[in-house]
Amino acid sequence: MNILAIDTSCDETSVAITDGRRVLSNVIYSQVLLHKKWGGVVPSIAKRAHEEKIDFVVEEAIKKFSIKEIDYIAVTQGPGLAVALEVGIKKAKELAAAYQKKLIAVNHLEGHIYSAFVQNSQGNPKRDFKFPYLALIISGGHTEFVIFRNHLEYEIIGQTLDDAAGEALDKAAKLLGLGYPGGPVLERLSKEVKNIDSHSFPRPMLKSKDLNFSFSGLKTSFYYFLKSQAAKTPLSGVKELASSFQEAVFDTLIKKTEMAIKQTGINRLIIGGGVIANSRLRNLMRSLVKKYQGKVLFPSYKYLAGDNAAMIGIVAGYKADKKLFVEDIDKLDRTPRMSL
Ligand code: KG4
Ligand code: ZN
Repeated sequence: MNILAIDTSCDETSVAITDGRRVLSNVIYSQVLLHKKWGGVVPSIAKRAHEEKIDFVVEEAIKKFSIKEIDYIAVTQGPGLAVALEVGIKKAKELAAAYQKKLIAVNHLEGHIYSAFVQNSQGNPKRDFKFPYLALIISGGHTEFVIFRNHLEYEIIGQTLDDAAGEALDKAAKLLGLGYPGGPVLERLSKEVKNIDSHSFPRPMLKSKDLNFSFSGLKTSFYYFLKSQAAKTPLSGVKELASSFQEAVFDTLIKKTEMAIKQTGINRLIIGGGVIANSRLRNLMRSLVKKYQGKVLFPSYKYLAGDNAAMIGIVAGYKADKKLFVEDIDKLDRTPRMSL
């Protein structure tokens, strides 16, 4: 069962062909360079770039196939940037109508959760599902704890009340003049530092017993710290600042994840989203689950941490098995604040 999947939720135009859990092709056109000089994603630029590239990305993804070999079309409905989501949905509707294919709408966050189960065209890795899982989505737009009970069954048990973890990293990097996206730059600089937590910035929300996050206070205290430093001398020790900020975010994530393990009694973790590309965070998560004799699964290949259509196609495969198709294609609309 071949699925052509489209994701245009933010600043990547991506199209994949999947079959069950296997990815037969996946093309990603990243707009990062277009947004870099603005220090973040600019909606109007994102919309135009998706519109300019979508046909090319579809053609590249489908190159080795004929449309006859495609059974269904899948598309990200939300959450994401409204004007960006629109482009993918419009294209998916066009393809579904032109070739008489059923359409499957997918939640982008489900995609991040399923990215640990995506296989290459040879069917590797052969990870089996062993429900329930504690799933953690850590991206530029989301920080969420989810109980993943069974296929397509989720319960959100904690989330950020303001900024997402990746957003906090991006904002801190911007304050340090390090460009966009910030996560990878902070990771690189942190590797060059001996004392990785010399500033020990505050760890937000650890006193509360719930599983929610709030990173905006951390960003504000970082801002005022930089301001007070800059008043004295020109800013120095950028690497130490970058590393200490990263550590404050990651330590908060780890401590809350430990609370989640204790509260739910689930020691099998799945982590998805752009921030889990970070090797320091992966190592911290590995040590944490070891303490609880558990297991942690990351996206099966590195490209699957960030946004991609392959993960959308995999979810769509499970939805097709349950005949969860879009009933009225004309009524399908982007849902920027869609939750699980
Ligand atoms: O999942 P994603 O590509 O897009 C969203 O759905 O938001 O996540 C993007 C986020 C950005 O905040 C970016 O700074 C962060 O992932 N990120 C990283 C790394 N690579 C990307 N954060 C920390 N370390 C990295 N290596
Ligand atoms: Zn994403």
